[in-house]
Amino acid sequence: MSLDIKRPNSNKTKKKMGFIVKMQLHNNNNRGGSNKRNLFFVFFRSYYRWILWFFLSLYFFTSYFAGDQSSPSSTTTTRLLSNHNPSSSLPSRALIESSAIVTPGIFSGMKIYIYDLPARFNVDWVTKSDRCATHLFAAEVAIHRALLSDSSVRTLDPEEADFFFVPVYVSCNFSTSNGFPSLSHARSLLGSAVDFLSDQYPFWNRTQGSDHVFVASHDFGACFHAMEDMAIEEGIPEFMKKSIILQTFGVNYKHPCQEAEHVVIPPYIPPESVQRAMDRAPANGRRDIWAFFRGKMEVNPKNISGRFYSKGVRTAILKKYGGRRRFYLNRHRFAGYRSEIVRSVFCLCPLGWAPWSPRLVESAVLGCVPVVIADGIKLPFSETVRWPEISLTVAEKDVKNLRKILEHVAVTNLSVIQRNLREPAFKRALLYNVPMKEGDATWHILEALWRKLDRSYRRSRVLSE
Ligand SMILES: *[C@@H]1O[C@H](CO)[C@@H](O)[C@H](O)[C@H]1NC(C)=O
Ligand SMILES: *[C@@H]1O[C@H](CO)[C@@H](O)[C@H](O)[C@H]1NC(C)=O
Ligand SMILES: *[C@@H]1O[C@H](CO)[C@@H](O)[C@H](O)[C@H]1NC(C)=O
Ligand SMILES: *[C@@H]1O[C@H](CO)[C@@H](O)[C@H](O)[C@H]1NC(C)=O
Repeated sequence: MSLDIKRPNSNKTKKKMGFIVKMQLHNNNNRGGSNKRNLFFVFFRSYYRWILWFFLSLYFFTSYFAGDQSSPSSTTTTRLLSNHNPSSSLPSRALIESSAIVTPGIFSGMKIYIYDLPARFNVDWVTKSDRCATHLFAAEVAIHRALLSDSSVRTLDPEEADFFFVPVYVSCNFSTSNGFPSLSHARSLLGSAVDFLSDQYPFWNRTQGSDHVFVASHDFGACFHAMEDMAIEEGIPEFMKKSIILQTFGVNYKHPCQEAEHVVIPPYIPPESVQRAMDRAPANGRRDIWAFFRGKMEVNPKNISGRFYSKGVRTAILKKYGGRRRFYLNRHRFAGYRSEIVRSVFCLCPLGWAPWSPRLVESAVLGCVPVVIADGIKLPFSETVRWPEISLTVAEKDVKNLRKILEHVAVTNLSVIQRNLREPAFKRALLYNVPMKEGDATWHILEALWRKLDRSYRRSRVLSE
């Protein structure tokens, strides 16, 4: 048996957290040593380490008393609270199950049912425009596809589901004038989806949707408006307030647009485009751009009902550092900008209308140190992705000292941050794949849902029986 706990090279002063725990159990002493068992626990934080040891002990405990009941499969998956084993005499209701493929054991046999909604709620939008599946709000499409492709957590039987995924693509109605998605129909589209499923199925009504999962991948999450004051005024639609919302928007203070159970998720960046940019990276790995930003920077910011884009931060950066040596700032769109990111040391990620930006993910996965300038932002999967070790945070009021701050880091801990960024687990956690891969963004969403299993109607029934 070997147990190795792998961590990215972490700052010694930081509280260490187990990042990846990869556990292998080799049980070679039966049936001629042919029976190997592997348990994979990926992304276990040290917080859960006791669970790990609990399972380990339990594993030996059950195999000792239950004798060898191994199936022909080579992988054993540990699941918690599974109710398929009435013969288990363990008070914890924990048991060991065997399955043919490696499945992440920490999901405890969690099951998700994906509603089969009429095409007008989802796939019709992608048929109309394939941009729908690739733009920065496309997490709603990516998560749906990844879950559909999954065979370990997805169930086709809603009766055995812990969670219900509602696949509605609301960010795909692209405006012909500015090319941005119009969100004006989002509420009514979601509302009619909920009417449809609460009429056709019994599951919504029995919990008022509290075990239902939505994606709200635009600026202010489930408030469905790109402008904060309007978003706050309109708030989260009443019918979604009890549900779980997967949203790109997140702040670490009270905000009306996150007053629902939610998980902060990464914006969508196509994994192929990341690969293409990597392929085009200079062969010697040299980063010849010191501080990089490309995107909207207004010289004279417009006063839009008392609000200024990026709270004027981008304008301040442009005014102070535009044209300065070492600062590569560009206001024009360029489709190949990711090939500039792979050549950059620091990538500025200032707020736009909302605090989050796709740059956070693009720079982190392309090895450019994200410089987060968005006060109060809550970054995606912050429970498991250790952002302080792979990024820098600069307060909005400190942008005037940006050069000094970056120079200080460059001579102190830049190489540590860059080394941390090379840890493949970070990159994996921020990208969505179809099919889902262990440790990727969808996998992390499942892990976050697993922590909300107390919302499962099915489990609450099983436990009360
Ligand atoms: C798409 O957006 C436009 C502009 O907001 C709106 O008029 C139209 O009804 C929307 N289309 C649908 C199908 O919801
Ligand atoms: C759920 O409740 C709504 C509103 O009360 C009702 O119209 C609908 O028929 C109910 N659905 C089912 C399946 O009973
Ligand atoms: C911006 O416009 C609002 C009215 O919409 C006004 O009250 C405010 O003073 C303006 N702010 C600045 C800095 O010009
Ligand atoms: C690097 O240094 C900066 C500024 O001194 C500090 O804020 C940051 O936490 C450090 N990061 C790491 C990973 O050591």
